[in-house]
Amino acid sequence: AAPTPRGGSRVIVVGSGIAGMQTALELRRLDPSNAVILVSKGTLTESNTRYAQGGIAAVVPSGRVASALRGTRDGSEGGPVHADSVEAHIADTLIAGAGLADPHAVSVLCHGGADAVRSLQRAGVVFDAVAADSAGAGAGPGGAGEPGRDAGERGLSATTTPDLARGREAAHSAARILHLGGDSTGAGIVGALSAAVGRDPGIVVLEGAAVTRVLVTGPGEAGRRAAGVTTVVDGQSRDLPADAVVLATGGAGQLFAHTTNPSIATGDGVALAWRAGAAVTDLEFFQFHPTSLDVPGNPLISEAVRGEGARLIDADGRAFMHAYHPDGDLAPRDVVSRSIARHLARRSGAGRPGRTTGPVATGPAERVYLDATALGAAFLSRRFPALTALTLRHGFDWSSEPVPVVPAAHYWMGGVRTDTEGRTSVPGLFAVGEVARTGVHGANRLASNSLLEGVVFATRCARAIVDGGGTAPRVDAEPLDTDAGRSATHPVTRRELQEVMSDHAGVLRTGAGLELAGKHLAGYRTPEDPETDNLLLCARLLVHAASRRPASCGAHYRVDGVDQDPGQRSGEVEHHPEDEPP
Ligand code: FAD
Ligand code: SIN
Repeated sequence: AAPTPRGGSRVIVVGSGIAGMQTALELRRLDPSNAVILVSKGTLTESNTRYAQGGIAAVVPSGRVASALRGTRDGSEGGPVHADSVEAHIADTLIAGAGLADPHAVSVLCHGGADAVRSLQRAGVVFDAVAADSAGAGAGPGGAGEPGRDAGERGLSATTTPDLARGREAAHSAARILHLGGDSTGAGIVGALSAAVGRDPGIVVLEGAAVTRVLVTGPGEAGRRAAGVTTVVDGQSRDLPADAVVLATGGAGQLFAHTTNPSIATGDGVALAWRAGAAVTDLEFFQFHPTSLDVPGNPLISEAVRGEGARLIDADGRAFMHAYHPDGDLAPRDVVSRSIARHLARRSGAGRPGRTTGPVATGPAERVYLDATALGAAFLSRRFPALTALTLRHGFDWSSEPVPVVPAAHYWMGGVRTDTEGRTSVPGLFAVGEVARTGVHGANRLASNSLLEGVVFATRCARAIVDGGGTAPRVDAEPLDTDAGRSATHPVTRRELQEVMSDHAGVLRTGAGLELAGKHLAGYRTPEDPETDNLLLCARLLVHAASRRPASCGAHYRVDGVDQDPGQRSGEVEHHPEDEPP
């Protein structure tokens, strides 16, 4: 039913990834009298979202059971077929989160899966589907579970066929990853959502416009409210007023020298929110994806490839993951990245590993490899066409040789603290997508839950804004100048910052390393480039949070620490604006 106009709001959405575009579209769908300004510092279509490969995790009803554990690629032996459930998705998410995920937020996320998928389909997203004549047990290279495109998989919406193809990824107890174009999920979603945005005259898109400040009214708690943003376009600064501001600015992979993230991922949202006085939390938890291709730029090799049966091997050709975790290559992502780092350190004879992301290798003996050769050329090129092209561009034929891989910075679990409607601790300021810390990921995100988070919480945030925003949690202090009182000795370059973070705040951490990183970061003068300035603030906050958690937990692994009591909640290292600047 068409929603009733309620007078309309002017809402600024900062960021045009899945979370920002979904927020904009929902704001308009719920109330066509809303006016939305969608601001992006790059083009409308450039974002982390665009590069997503594996897919979106969601338990959606199916006419026939097409999901199962993986089978083999060129044969027909499928894994055991079993029905999936939202409860299983919740359990997997909580386990991957290492005891720190918020059960309520996780329940909201996983129960929102089917609606999220329908909403994307409404906007024009067409997921890969299992062809009607090939969904039977044992069909195709993925068996009954993931027949793959060999078995007649084709792009169809769930309204025309109920049997969407489902991939498997690490730490999922069932095949439940919906995808597009095999391994081009993000590009497909961005294409459909940006087209929907373009069709809506009520969404004004500002490209090439970097938001540098959230405008906050005040003074005093009662009058304190986000009231717009400052944008910079071609060096010109301009204030844009709004009734509500939604941060959907994505992550901060650029904190590290080696990342799967594009250049836009500079932590702007965390920095903007912090400076506006909003609470941020869980910042010590940064996820490193185990399998970026070990070449300049560290492009991702999707976990879905291991989901189909590829294995990690060392330079002697030995599969080693089962020595570290009973789930082997499909152990949670933090475990796999850590195991690679430890395996390399062990083989190199180093008592204590140094850098554990990016090119740790100095020679072939110190690399690990992803061996997908058993999947066969035909299956690889049909199920993973973009990755087949990517590996070829880098000189590898992955159907006949293992490819070198290395962990790289991938996803920030921490972020701006929100409730399950995207409200931050500053009234009128919302955060959705990767920039938000809703509590769904705890200390380690489950694969393919991020795109889902983007849709589920963006939708809920739009509803909250239309319904009046509600009351945000109390905020106690004015924004801090985080550079105040620093011994400004040294202007920092982005490269320098990334080297410090990669050396001391990567996959494996020590107290001494974090202390050293803190000292380096404190000594740097604020850089002139606003993105590097944001990265510096994020780095200080991350290292500060990591230093305050001596025990290991999820993606925060202290080589010199003990394992964390799973009962310890992440809120213990929450940063409030009234805290001393790190
Ligand atoms: P983004 O998509 O990163 O969008 C952020 C937007 O904010 C951009 O438009 C950017 O330009 C804009 N922006 C940032 N700062 C400013 C500013 N100051 N002013 C104006 N605009 C600004 N997750 C999954 O669930 N499944 C996957 O298969 C998957 N694969 C991935 C593969 C890769 C290579 C990568 C890097 C990530 C992958 N992820 C995956 C993670 C997932 O893609 C991201 O977490 C998710 O897309 C984030 O969406 P978002 O909308 O929050 O932010
Ligand atoms: C991948 O395809 O491995 C990435 C999935 C994710 O980051 O969730």
